[in-house]
This record gives sequence, C-alpha cells and structure tokens, in this order.
Amino acid sequence: MTILERIDQPPARIGAALYDWDELVQEDRVHRLIYTDPAIFTAEMTHVFGGTWVYLAHESEIPQENDYITRRLGLRPIIVVRDMNGTIRALYNRCTHRGTTLCRWDKGNAKSFQCPYHGWNFLNTGKLRGVPWPDGYACDFRDPKFNVAQVPRVQSYRGFIFGTLNLEAPPLVDWLGPITKPIDQWLDRNPGGQVVVCEANRLKFKGNWKLAYDNSGDGYHVVYSHRSLLETENRLSDDGNKGMAFYRSSPDTAPMYMQYMGNGHHFKDKRPNLNQRPGGLWAIESPHPGMEHCAAEFRRRYGARADDLLDLAGSEPVNINVFPNLSLLGNHIQVFEPVSVDETNAIWYGTRIVDATGDIGEALDEINALRMRTQEGFPNFGEVDDVANFEQIQRGLQCLEDEWVYMHRGLGVPGRVRMQDDGTIVAPATDEAFMREYIKEWKRLMKTKPNLAIRREP
Ligand code: FES
Ligand SMILES: [Fe+2]
Repeated sequence: MTILERIDQPPARIGAALYDWDELVQEDRVHRLIYTDPAIFTAEMTHVFGGTWVYLAHESEIPQENDYITRRLGLRPIIVVRDMNGTIRALYNRCTHRGTTLCRWDKGNAKSFQCPYHGWNFLNTGKLRGVPWPDGYACDFRDPKFNVAQVPRVQSYRGFIFGTLNLEAPPLVDWLGPITKPIDQWLDRNPGGQVVVCEANRLKFKGNWKLAYDNSGDGYHVVYSHRSLLETENRLSDDGNKGMAFYRSSPDTAPMYMQYMGNGHHFKDKRPNLNQRPGGLWAIESPHPGMEHCAAEFRRRYGARADDLLDLAGSEPVNINVFPNLSLLGNHIQVFEPVSVDETNAIWYGTRIVDATGDIGEALDEINALRMRTQEGFPNFGEVDDVANFEQIQRGLQCLEDEWVYMHRGLGVPGRVRMQDDGTIVAPATDEAFMREYIKEWKRLMKTKPNLAIRREP
C-alpha cells in the first residue's frame, strides 16, 4: 500500500506579524521554515537577539580599566569595554559619522577609539571627544546624537556579561532563575569560584543557529553521532568507562538526567554517573598525549592532594545551556553566533583556573596546561560530528514539501517527564522535553513586540 500525503499550501506570511507562530511551533513538531526562512532570521535579530538577555563576554577577558574585546549582539558589532571609570559597557561598534566600524581589532586596551575613516575620536565611555578640522561644521558636537550608541542594559552574573536592548526584560538574575544553581556549581568547583577565559576553538557551520541549541542537551544522538569519539576514548582503556562511555547501552537508565529551567535554559547533568570521590573525574578523562606521565608526576610530587588537583584539569560532565547563545560544556564556554539564516559560528572558549585561595601554588601552571589538553578533545573530535549533523539537517530541510521536524521524544509517555515543585522539568537524558520547552520561549519572544532602545551618553 502506498500512503500519499497531500501537499498543502505552506504556512503563509501574514504581514507585520510574519506568521501564525502557533502554526509553525506545535506541541510535538516545528515547521522547517523556522530554520530556513530569511525573514524569520531577520525577525530573530530583534525579537531574540535584542528582546532577551544575550551573553556577550566574560569579565576575565577585560580585567583592567580600558580593556576591550569586540563581540556581537545578533548581527550588531559590539565593543565590550571596561571604561576609564571601571564601568562595563557594550558600545555599538559603529561610528556615528558615516557608520563604519570604529574598532577593527579583536581586543586591546584603549582610552578612546579613533575612527579609521575620517578620524572622529570617541572616549571609551562612548562620548565623542573630537573631530578633525571642526571649523568645517556648523553643528554643536556636544549634541548626544554624535555619541556612540550603546546597549542600554548590561549586567553580569558572576563574571558572565549579558546585554539586552529590551527595556522590559526582567533583571538578569531573575531571567536566569534556577539555571544559576548549576552555573554556581560549575564555578565553585574551581578555587575561589572563578575561571579565566582563554583563547578559543572557532568553528563555523552552514546551518541555522537553533540547530546547535536544539542539540545542546540532546542525549539521544551521542552513541550514534559520536561513535568514533567513544571508541577513541576507550580504545586504550582497561575498564571501558572513559569519557562519555555512560551513553552506551541504555542511557535512560543511567542516573544522568536533563532539566528544563525556564526562559529557554536547560541543564544536562551527567555528574551522577560518576564515582564522586577525589580523582573520580580524572579517572574517566579520555586519553591525551602524555597524560600518564603527568598524572604520575602529580602523584609523586603532591601525594594525597594529587587526585583533587587532577580533577581540576578534568572535564566537568555538564551541559548548562543559557538561551539563546551560551553553553557551559565540560570546562568550555561555548557561544553560538548567528551569521545568517544558514550560517553560524560555534566558538569554544577554553578556561583556566587561578590560585585564588593560595592552595595550589606551584602546581597551577601544570594544572592549566593539562586542563588545556583535556579541552582540546571535544571541539576537535566531537563537535565536528555535531556540525556535520547541523549542515546535513540544513540540506535536508530544503525538501520543501516535507515540512515538519519532530521533537516529541518523551511526550505522552506516562511518568517520563516530571514537573518539579520549583517549576523545573526533569526527564531522562535522551528526552526532547527541553527542545519542546525552549522553542515555546522562542515562540513567546517571536510573538511579543519587544520594547527596544539604545542609549547614548548625555
Ligand atoms: S565614518 Fe567615522 S569618522 Fe567618518
Ligand atoms: Fe553531540
């Protein structure tokens, strides 16, 4: 028997509202258009990357006054700066004269930015300092309209700097809500509860940014998509329990779980799979060149402390996903940068630790060197599997008539998805509940007209 599907008209654009979002995002499925329609991507740049808090940078990247780093808020080029008074600002990287980017460097230290085009000069507070040959102008350059535009709301949570253009967004800490708990735990396992951001593995894929966020807590794909990584991690191991080996056999019966935290944020907690003892994290670390020698040397030199020290170099088994663009994975800070409807940057910033409490002493550099080795693994041997999937989904979604993408794993299975008293939702590791929930938040943002503003110094 052949089953024929009638080809209906695809969902139609409806003026300024763009689409009937309830038609595109349903309980168990989403329409391909949310990944492929350039008009939806353009709307996301205001409704999502404008309408909600977006991760910009980490305070450790601009530790001194006048330090800056260039980033983006959606497609807007941004200079995140700790200004001459110590205030963290997110300046639009756009000259108020004719619109070119003001700063062409990735990062640096500068009290002012001189536009490369005609030399207008701006203080790092955003205020126009002077223009060349001002007698050619009749205007009053004290008018604030000549000061650089900036993101009106910039707030940090424990070093993570976020910005939003939406005057009605809740305070950052309220918007983060329960996801602050795993973020705190992720930080607090390090001395002084701190990390310092290092350089990054930079990947680019030809696919929509939401494909990466869909995947960020996906425990269903691991054994299939990352088969070669799982094999590599365990080829030399006696007990076969290295790396992500706990995904083998039946991942839903393992004690790991996923938890949806509200406002699009979610958490995959794989820590319960581990033996929670000093050295337990290091014991499952996958092989890296020279690691046995390093570990033996640590044991010889630091004796009983060695297991704790080695755990600081081990990769924390969590995925903490903060909608729409931040993911804490292992020891990495991963950032998704939308480039166009079908192109995204996935940037994996490494982190190192500091000897904030003075307990680590001379071992610090070695721990950080080892920690860097452990951080080389996933972006090189795991993320490449993921971005291959994202690119192939983007290709598959060019099948215009086959319209729906399903994210219904766990839906309607009695007892599988559990609502907690605090409003969070807990489900087995392979469940797609977090996808169904975050995309509701995406839909809410797309339906709501955000109250966006920029600010200029007076
Ligand atoms: S565009 Fe910047 S000074 Fe002219
Ligand atoms: Fe993956």
